[in-house]
Amino acid sequence: MSELLRFGVSIENDLLESFDKLVAERKYATRSEALRDLIRDALVQSRLEERAGDMEVLGTLTLVYDHHAHELSDQMAALQHDHHEMVISVLHVHISHDDCMEVIVLRGRTKAVRELADALLSLKGVKHGKLFTTLPAQIITDGARHSNTHTHSHNGNGHKHSHKHSHKGRKTTARRNNSSK
Ligand code: NI
Repeated sequence: MSELLRFGVSIENDLLESFDKLVAERKYATRSEALRDLIRDALVQSRLEERAGDMEVLGTLTLVYDHHAHELSDQMAALQHDHHEMVISVLHVHISHDDCMEVIVLRGRTKAVRELADALLSLKGVKHGKLFTTLPAQIITDGARHSNTHTHSHNGNGHKHSHKHSHKGRKTTARRNNSSK
């Protein structure tokens, strides 16, 4: 096991209070252990996306943000115009006096979609957001497109199928068991 390091984090008071409640609910021994799990989860997602290579994906990026945040709306629009070939549609909802939600439908190579999503998610003033990616239906069912993760055996009459699927990029939202301290 590598050496443990300590580092400082600047965080809003109410955000930390809420995080501490989550830490307690999920029965983590410490805030640090919960943070380590979040970091590992992000790293796993990143590895999965790397392996998906340049496969074309469909994505929906949901963003919740404060539209009063300085220049945020302009920055968001500029980023989307810079990558207009990937932006299929945008749904904008005014959810309260301060907050807006945008759902951006994207289509493009895995890496490009992830990079655009990250650029938008990391803008100052974006409070929450998440990218969900999926594949066009014919790719999901066509083993030939990524045969390293699908094994199909067909008996020729089209009635008997044996599929073994291991989906890349699948979200691992299931709670980790907390035994790895
Ligand atoms: Ni709005």
